[in-house]
Amino acid sequence: MDFGAMFRGKHNPPKDTNPSFAGRTIVVTGSNTGVGFEASVKFVQLGAARVILAVRSIKKGEDARMQIEQRTGRKGVAEVWELDMLDYGSIKAFAARVDEEVERLDIAVLNAGIFMATFQKSSYGWEKVLQVNVLSTSLLGLLLLPKLKASKTADFTPVLELVSSGNHFNVTTLATDPDSGAAGPLETYNHPATFNAITQYNISKLFLEYGHAGLAALATSPATGKPDVTVVSICPGATKSNLARDNTAWYMRAALFIFALLFQRSTEEGARTYISGAALGEKGHGQFWQDDRISEPAPLLSGEKGEKLQAQVWHEIVVALQKDVPEVDGLLKASG
Ligand SMILES: NC(=O)c1ccc[n+]([C@@H]2O[C@H](COP(=O)([O-])OP(=O)(O)OC[C@H]3O[C@@H](n4cnc5c(N)ncnc54)[C@H](OP(=O)(O)O)[C@@H]3O)[C@@H](O)[C@H]2O)c1
Repeated sequence: MDFGAMFRGKHNPPKDTNPSFAGRTIVVTGSNTGVGFEASVKFVQLGAARVILAVRSIKKGEDARMQIEQRTGRKGVAEVWELDMLDYGSIKAFAARVDEEVERLDIAVLNAGIFMATFQKSSYGWEKVLQVNVLSTSLLGLLLLPKLKASKTADFTPVLELVSSGNHFNVTTLATDPDSGAAGPLETYNHPATFNAITQYNISKLFLEYGHAGLAALATSPATGKPDVTVVSICPGATKSNLARDNTAWYMRAALFIFALLFQRSTEEGARTYISGAALGEKGHGQFWQDDRISEPAPLLSGEKGEKLQAQVWHEIVVALQKDVPEVDGLLKASG
Protein backbone atom coordinates (compact mmCIF):
# COMPACT_ATOMS: atom_id res chain seq x y z
CA MET A 1 0.00 0.00 0.00
CA ASP A 2 1.27 3.47 -0.89
CA PHE A 3 0.33 5.42 2.26
CA GLY A 4 1.93 8.61 0.89
CA ALA A 5 -0.30 8.50 -2.19
CA MET A 6 -3.36 7.82 -0.02
CA PHE A 7 -2.51 10.75 2.28
CA ARG A 8 -2.14 13.03 -0.74
CA GLY A 9 -5.34 11.56 -2.22
CA LYS A 10 -7.33 12.46 0.89
CA HIS A 11 -6.15 16.07 0.69
CA ASN A 12 -6.59 16.32 -3.10
CA PRO A 13 -10.06 14.90 -3.73
CA PRO A 14 -11.46 14.49 -7.23
CA LYS A 15 -13.17 17.47 -8.86
CA ASP A 16 -16.84 17.96 -8.04
CA THR A 17 -18.21 18.10 -11.59
CA ASN A 18 -21.78 18.90 -12.53
CA PRO A 19 -22.67 17.19 -15.80
CA SER A 20 -26.38 17.06 -16.60
CA PHE A 21 -28.10 13.67 -16.42
CA ALA A 22 -31.45 15.20 -17.37
CA GLY A 23 -33.83 12.59 -18.70
CA ARG A 24 -31.45 9.70 -17.99
CA THR A 25 -32.38 6.38 -16.44
CA ILE A 26 -29.61 5.13 -14.16
CA VAL A 27 -29.14 1.92 -12.17
CA VAL A 28 -26.80 1.95 -9.16
CA THR A 29 -26.22 -1.38 -7.42
CA GLY A 30 -25.45 -1.46 -3.69
CA SER A 31 -26.80 2.07 -3.33
CA ASN A 32 -28.38 1.91 0.12
CA THR A 33 -25.14 3.04 1.78
CA GLY A 34 -21.53 4.06 1.20
CA VAL A 35 -20.23 5.52 -2.04
CA GLY A 36 -23.06 4.09 -4.15
CA PHE A 37 -25.57 5.94 -1.98
CA GLU A 38 -23.73 9.27 -2.30
CA ALA A 39 -23.40 8.77 -6.06
CA SER A 40 -27.16 8.18 -6.25
CA VAL A 41 -27.79 11.45 -4.40
CA LYS A 42 -25.65 13.19 -7.00
CA PHE A 43 -27.36 11.53 -9.99
CA VAL A 44 -30.72 12.73 -8.63
CA GLN A 45 -29.34 16.22 -7.94
CA LEU A 46 -27.95 16.36 -11.48
CA GLY A 47 -31.34 15.87 -13.08
CA ALA A 48 -31.69 12.12 -13.74
CA ALA A 49 -35.24 11.08 -14.61
CA ARG A 50 -35.05 7.70 -12.82
CA VAL A 51 -32.42 6.35 -10.44
CA ILE A 52 -32.97 2.70 -9.63
CA LEU A 53 -31.47 1.75 -6.27
CA ALA A 54 -30.62 -1.93 -6.75
CA VAL A 55 -30.31 -3.30 -3.22
CA ARG A 56 -30.58 -6.58 -1.37
CA SER A 57 -32.65 -5.16 1.49
CA ILE A 58 -35.82 -3.34 0.46
CA LYS A 59 -36.04 -1.83 3.94
CA LYS A 60 -32.53 -0.35 3.71
CA GLY A 61 -33.30 0.77 0.15
CA GLU A 62 -36.48 2.56 1.24
CA ASP A 63 -34.55 4.35 4.01
CA ALA A 64 -32.00 5.43 1.41
CA ARG A 65 -34.72 6.56 -1.00
CA MET A 66 -36.28 8.75 1.71
CA GLN A 67 -32.92 10.30 2.57
CA ILE A 68 -32.27 11.01 -1.12
CA GLU A 69 -35.65 12.73 -1.43
CA GLN A 70 -34.98 14.82 1.68
CA ARG A 71 -31.50 15.83 0.54
CA THR A 72 -32.34 16.61 -3.07
CA GLY A 73 -35.91 17.83 -2.73
CA ARG A 74 -36.79 15.65 -5.76
CA LYS A 75 -39.49 13.09 -5.14
CA GLY A 76 -40.41 10.10 -7.30
CA VAL A 77 -37.00 9.90 -9.03
CA ALA A 78 -35.31 7.21 -6.91
CA GLU A 79 -36.91 3.76 -6.91
CA VAL A 80 -35.98 0.70 -4.87
CA TRP A 81 -35.56 -2.61 -6.68
CA GLU A 82 -34.35 -5.89 -5.17
CA LEU A 83 -30.99 -7.31 -6.20
CA ASP A 84 -28.88 -9.85 -4.32
CA MET A 85 -25.46 -10.31 -5.86
CA LEU A 86 -25.04 -13.66 -4.06
CA ASP A 87 -28.05 -15.11 -5.91
CA TYR A 88 -27.99 -15.67 -9.69
CA GLY A 89 -31.80 -16.00 -9.69
CA SER A 90 -32.06 -12.51 -8.20
CA ILE A 91 -29.54 -11.09 -10.70
CA LYS A 92 -31.44 -12.60 -13.64
CA ALA A 93 -34.79 -11.39 -12.27
CA PHE A 94 -33.38 -7.89 -11.82
CA ALA A 95 -32.04 -7.74 -15.38
CA ALA A 96 -35.33 -9.12 -16.76
CA ARG A 97 -37.22 -6.45 -14.84
CA VAL A 98 -34.97 -3.75 -16.29
CA ASP A 99 -35.65 -5.14 -19.74
CA GLU A 100 -39.42 -5.12 -19.22
CA GLU A 101 -40.03 -2.03 -17.12
CA VAL A 102 -37.40 0.42 -18.33
CA GLU A 103 -37.87 2.03 -21.70
CA ARG A 104 -34.19 2.88 -22.05
CA LEU A 105 -31.20 2.29 -19.80
CA ASP A 106 -28.60 5.03 -20.08
CA ILE A 107 -26.15 4.26 -17.29
CA ALA A 108 -25.58 1.19 -15.11
CA VAL A 109 -23.20 1.63 -12.18
CA LEU A 110 -22.15 -1.79 -10.87
CA ASN A 111 -21.03 -0.66 -7.46
CA ALA A 112 -22.08 -3.45 -5.06
CA GLY A 113 -18.91 -4.98 -3.68
CA ILE A 114 -17.57 -6.63 -0.56
CA PHE A 115 -14.47 -7.11 1.54
CA MET A 116 -14.45 -10.24 3.71
CA ALA A 117 -12.25 -10.76 6.75
CA THR A 118 -12.50 -14.56 6.51
CA PHE A 119 -12.79 -17.19 3.77
CA GLN A 120 -16.42 -18.03 3.06
CA LYS A 121 -18.03 -19.69 0.05
CA SER A 122 -21.15 -18.71 -1.88
CA SER A 123 -23.78 -21.29 -2.73
CA TYR A 124 -22.09 -21.65 -6.13
CA GLY A 125 -18.83 -22.81 -4.55
CA TRP A 126 -16.90 -19.57 -5.02
CA GLU A 127 -15.18 -17.58 -2.31
CA LYS A 128 -17.61 -14.73 -1.62
CA VAL A 129 -15.36 -11.80 -2.62
CA LEU A 130 -14.68 -13.47 -5.99
CA GLN A 131 -18.38 -14.27 -6.25
CA VAL A 132 -19.71 -10.74 -5.69
CA ASN A 133 -16.89 -8.54 -7.00
CA VAL A 134 -15.99 -10.63 -10.05
CA LEU A 135 -18.49 -13.31 -11.10
CA SER A 136 -21.80 -11.70 -10.19
CA THR A 137 -20.66 -8.27 -11.37
CA SER A 138 -19.59 -9.76 -14.72
CA LEU A 139 -22.90 -11.62 -14.99
CA LEU A 140 -24.95 -8.51 -14.33
CA GLY A 141 -22.84 -6.61 -16.88
CA LEU A 142 -23.47 -9.33 -19.46
CA LEU A 143 -27.20 -9.35 -18.75
CA LEU A 144 -27.55 -5.55 -18.96
CA LEU A 145 -25.44 -5.08 -22.10
CA PRO A 146 -28.26 -5.79 -24.60
CA LYS A 147 -30.56 -3.19 -23.00
CA LEU A 148 -27.72 -0.67 -22.82
CA LYS A 149 -26.83 -1.30 -26.47
CA ALA A 150 -30.44 -0.87 -27.51
CA SER A 151 -30.47 2.50 -25.74
CA LYS A 152 -27.70 4.02 -27.88
CA THR A 153 -28.73 7.08 -29.85
CA ALA A 154 -26.96 9.27 -32.39
CA ASP A 155 -25.81 11.63 -29.66
CA PHE A 156 -25.49 9.39 -26.61
CA THR A 157 -23.55 6.20 -25.92
CA PRO A 158 -24.85 4.40 -22.83
CA VAL A 159 -22.43 3.65 -20.03
CA LEU A 160 -21.60 0.51 -18.07
CA GLU A 161 -19.53 1.75 -15.13
CA LEU A 162 -17.77 -0.91 -13.07
CA VAL A 163 -16.67 0.14 -9.61
CA SER A 164 -13.22 -1.36 -9.32
CA SER A 165 -10.33 -0.28 -7.09
CA GLY A 166 -6.90 1.21 -7.64
CA ASN A 167 -5.74 -1.49 -5.21
CA HIS A 168 -5.54 -3.84 -8.18
CA PHE A 169 -2.26 -2.05 -9.00
CA ASN A 170 -0.85 -3.54 -5.78
CA VAL A 171 -1.06 -7.04 -7.24
CA THR A 172 2.19 -7.55 -9.10
CA THR A 173 2.42 -11.35 -9.04
CA LEU A 174 -0.11 -14.17 -8.96
CA ALA A 175 0.33 -17.67 -7.53
CA THR A 176 -0.25 -19.06 -11.00
CA ASP A 177 1.31 -18.72 -14.41
CA PRO A 178 -0.72 -18.39 -17.63
CA ASP A 179 1.68 -20.82 -19.36
CA SER A 180 1.81 -23.46 -16.61
CA GLY A 181 -1.27 -25.43 -17.66
CA ALA A 182 -2.20 -25.70 -13.95
CA ALA A 183 -5.39 -24.30 -12.38
CA GLY A 184 -6.24 -20.83 -13.67
CA PRO A 185 -6.00 -17.72 -11.46
CA LEU A 186 -9.69 -17.64 -10.49
CA GLU A 187 -9.59 -21.28 -9.39
CA THR A 188 -6.24 -20.77 -7.62
CA TYR A 189 -7.67 -18.00 -5.41
CA ASN A 190 -10.76 -20.01 -4.56
CA HIS A 191 -8.98 -21.83 -1.74
CA PRO A 192 -8.48 -21.10 1.96
CA ALA A 193 -4.73 -21.73 1.49
CA THR A 194 -4.33 -18.68 -0.80
CA PHE A 195 -6.74 -16.47 1.18
CA ASN A 196 -5.53 -13.28 2.78
CA ALA A 197 -8.33 -10.75 3.31
CA ILE A 198 -6.57 -7.69 1.87
CA THR A 199 -4.89 -9.56 -0.98
CA GLN A 200 -8.12 -11.32 -1.90
CA TYR A 201 -9.95 -8.00 -2.22
CA ASN A 202 -7.16 -6.54 -4.37
CA ILE A 203 -7.06 -9.67 -6.53
CA SER A 204 -10.84 -9.58 -6.96
CA LYS A 205 -10.52 -6.09 -8.41
CA LEU A 206 -7.69 -7.21 -10.72
CA PHE A 207 -9.93 -10.05 -11.92
CA LEU A 208 -12.77 -7.55 -12.34
CA GLU A 209 -10.43 -5.61 -14.63
CA TYR A 210 -10.05 -8.78 -16.74
CA GLY A 211 -13.85 -8.97 -16.75
CA HIS A 212 -13.92 -5.30 -17.72
CA ALA A 213 -11.79 -6.01 -20.79
CA GLY A 214 -14.06 -8.95 -21.73
CA LEU A 215 -17.20 -6.84 -21.40
CA ALA A 216 -15.62 -3.91 -23.26
CA ALA A 217 -14.80 -6.22 -26.19
CA LEU A 218 -18.41 -7.43 -26.29
CA ALA A 219 -19.63 -3.83 -26.23
CA THR A 220 -17.46 -2.79 -29.19
CA SER A 221 -19.10 -2.77 -32.61
CA PRO A 222 -17.23 -5.19 -34.92
CA ALA A 223 -18.34 -3.04 -37.86
CA THR A 224 -17.00 0.32 -36.66
CA GLY A 225 -14.59 -0.61 -33.86
CA LYS A 226 -16.41 1.96 -31.72
CA PRO A 227 -18.26 1.29 -28.49
CA ASP A 228 -21.99 0.58 -28.58
CA VAL A 229 -21.73 0.97 -24.82
CA THR A 230 -18.89 2.74 -23.02
CA VAL A 231 -17.56 0.21 -20.51
CA VAL A 232 -15.42 2.09 -18.02
CA SER A 233 -14.03 1.08 -14.65
CA ILE A 234 -13.48 3.57 -11.87
CA CYS A 235 -12.13 3.88 -8.34
CA PRO A 236 -13.33 6.36 -5.69
CA GLY A 237 -9.96 6.21 -3.89
CA ALA A 238 -9.72 5.44 -0.17
CA THR A 239 -13.16 6.60 0.98
CA LYS A 240 -15.19 6.44 4.21
CA SER A 241 -17.87 3.76 3.90
CA ASN A 242 -19.03 0.48 5.44
CA LEU A 243 -16.76 -1.65 3.27
CA ALA A 244 -14.65 -2.91 6.19
CA ARG A 245 -17.70 -3.91 8.27
CA ASP A 246 -16.67 -7.58 8.32
CA ASN A 247 -13.61 -6.68 10.43
CA THR A 248 -15.24 -6.97 13.84
CA ALA A 249 -12.20 -7.53 16.12
CA TRP A 250 -11.66 -4.50 18.41
CA TYR A 251 -8.02 -4.03 17.31
CA MET A 252 -9.09 -4.01 13.65
CA ARG A 253 -11.83 -1.45 14.41
CA ALA A 254 -9.20 0.71 16.17
CA ALA A 255 -6.77 0.41 13.24
CA LEU A 256 -9.54 1.21 10.77
CA PHE A 257 -10.54 4.28 12.77
CA ILE A 258 -7.01 5.66 12.52
CA PHE A 259 -6.77 4.64 8.84
CA ALA A 260 -9.99 6.56 8.13
CA LEU A 261 -8.74 9.66 9.94
CA LEU A 262 -5.44 9.71 8.09
CA PHE A 263 -6.24 8.44 4.63
CA GLN A 264 -9.94 8.28 3.72
CA ARG A 265 -11.85 10.89 1.77
CA SER A 266 -15.40 11.76 2.66
CA THR A 267 -18.00 9.55 1.02
CA GLU A 268 -19.22 12.50 -1.03
CA GLU A 269 -15.69 13.14 -2.34
CA GLY A 270 -15.33 9.48 -3.33
CA ALA A 271 -18.67 9.59 -5.16
CA ARG A 272 -17.43 12.45 -7.38
CA THR A 273 -15.49 9.90 -9.44
CA TYR A 274 -18.69 7.97 -10.21
CA ILE A 275 -20.13 11.15 -11.73
CA SER A 276 -17.10 12.22 -13.76
CA GLY A 277 -16.56 8.59 -14.86
CA ALA A 278 -20.14 8.27 -16.08
CA ALA A 279 -19.75 11.49 -18.08
CA LEU A 280 -16.40 10.63 -19.72
CA GLY A 281 -17.97 9.55 -22.99
CA GLU A 282 -16.42 7.06 -25.39
CA LYS A 283 -12.86 8.00 -24.43
CA GLY A 284 -13.48 6.07 -21.22
CA HIS A 285 -14.17 2.81 -23.05
CA GLY A 286 -11.95 0.02 -21.68
CA GLN A 287 -10.18 2.50 -19.42
CA PHE A 288 -9.61 2.86 -15.69
CA TRP A 289 -10.60 6.25 -14.19
CA GLN A 290 -9.37 7.49 -10.82
CA ASP A 291 -8.46 10.92 -9.41
CA ASP A 292 -9.67 12.73 -12.54
CA ARG A 293 -7.45 10.84 -14.92
CA ILE A 294 -7.28 7.75 -17.08
CA SER A 295 -4.46 5.53 -15.79
CA GLU A 296 -1.98 3.43 -17.66
CA PRO A 297 -2.88 -0.27 -17.21
CA ALA A 298 -1.57 -2.03 -14.09
CA PRO A 299 1.48 -4.34 -14.47
CA LEU A 300 -0.62 -7.52 -14.73
CA LEU A 301 -2.93 -5.93 -17.29
CA SER A 302 -0.28 -4.91 -19.78
CA GLY A 303 2.03 -6.60 -22.25
CA GLU A 304 1.90 -10.17 -23.49
CA LYS A 305 1.58 -11.59 -19.97
CA GLY A 306 -1.33 -9.26 -19.22
CA GLU A 307 -3.10 -10.31 -22.42
CA LYS A 308 -2.66 -13.99 -21.60
CA LEU A 309 -3.93 -13.53 -18.06
CA GLN A 310 -6.89 -11.51 -19.29
CA ALA A 311 -7.86 -14.23 -21.77
CA GLN A 312 -7.40 -16.93 -19.14
CA VAL A 313 -9.39 -15.23 -16.36
CA TRP A 314 -12.16 -14.08 -18.73
CA HIS A 315 -12.43 -17.68 -19.93
CA GLU A 316 -12.68 -18.88 -16.33
CA ILE A 317 -15.37 -16.27 -15.57
CA VAL A 318 -17.40 -17.30 -18.62
CA VAL A 319 -17.10 -21.03 -17.90
CA ALA A 320 -18.05 -20.53 -14.24
CA LEU A 321 -21.10 -18.49 -15.22
CA GLN A 322 -22.14 -20.88 -18.01
CA LYS A 323 -22.21 -23.72 -15.49
CA ASP A 324 -24.89 -22.08 -13.34
CA VAL A 325 -26.49 -19.64 -15.78
CA PRO A 326 -27.03 -21.33 -19.16
CA GLU A 327 -28.39 -18.04 -20.61
CA VAL A 328 -24.81 -16.76 -20.69
CA ASP A 329 -24.20 -18.80 -23.88
CA GLY A 330 -26.87 -16.87 -25.73
CA LEU A 331 -25.61 -13.53 -24.41
CA LEU A 332 -22.10 -14.26 -25.67
CA LYS A 333 -23.39 -15.37 -29.09
CA ALA A 334 -25.67 -12.32 -29.40
CA SER A 335 -22.75 -10.02 -28.65
CA GLY A 336 -20.13 -11.90 -30.66
N1 LIG B 1 -14.57 2.74 0.20
C1 LIG B 1 -13.41 2.63 -0.45
O1 LIG B 1 -12.36 3.06 0.03
C2 LIG B 1 -13.39 1.98 -1.80
C3 LIG B 1 -12.21 2.11 -2.57
C4 LIG B 1 -12.17 1.52 -3.83
C5 LIG B 1 -13.26 0.84 -4.30
N2 LIG B 1 -14.39 0.71 -3.53
C6 LIG B 1 -15.53 -0.02 -4.09
O2 LIG B 1 -16.68 0.80 -4.01
C7 LIG B 1 -17.84 -0.04 -4.02
C8 LIG B 1 -18.79 0.43 -2.94
O3 LIG B 1 -18.22 0.12 -1.70
P1 LIG B 1 -18.33 1.04 -0.40
O4 LIG B 1 -16.97 1.42 -0.03
O5 LIG B 1 -19.36 2.06 -0.58
O6 LIG B 1 -18.79 -0.08 0.65
P2 LIG B 1 -20.15 -0.26 1.48
O7 LIG B 1 -20.46 0.97 2.23
O8 LIG B 1 -19.98 -1.53 2.24
O9 LIG B 1 -21.26 -0.46 0.34
C9 LIG B 1 -21.34 -1.65 -0.37
C10 LIG B 1 -22.70 -1.81 -0.97
O10 LIG B 1 -22.74 -3.06 -1.66
C11 LIG B 1 -23.89 -3.77 -1.22
N3 LIG B 1 -23.76 -5.21 -1.31
C12 LIG B 1 -22.86 -6.01 -0.71
N4 LIG B 1 -23.13 -7.29 -0.98
C13 LIG B 1 -24.24 -7.31 -1.76
C14 LIG B 1 -25.01 -8.32 -2.34
N5 LIG B 1 -24.75 -9.62 -2.15
N6 LIG B 1 -26.07 -7.97 -3.09
C15 LIG B 1 -26.39 -6.67 -3.27
N7 LIG B 1 -25.71 -5.66 -2.71
C16 LIG B 1 -24.64 -5.98 -1.96
C17 LIG B 1 -24.09 -3.34 0.22
O11 LIG B 1 -25.40 -3.65 0.64
P3 LIG B 1 -25.72 -3.96 2.22
O12 LIG B 1 -25.66 -2.66 2.92
O13 LIG B 1 -27.08 -4.58 2.19
O14 LIG B 1 -24.66 -4.92 2.68
C18 LIG B 1 -23.82 -1.86 0.09
O15 LIG B 1 -24.96 -1.22 -0.41
C19 LIG B 1 -17.34 -1.47 -3.85
O16 LIG B 1 -17.32 -2.13 -5.10
C20 LIG B 1 -15.93 -1.27 -3.32
O17 LIG B 1 -15.09 -2.37 -3.63
C21 LIG B 1 -14.47 1.28 -2.31
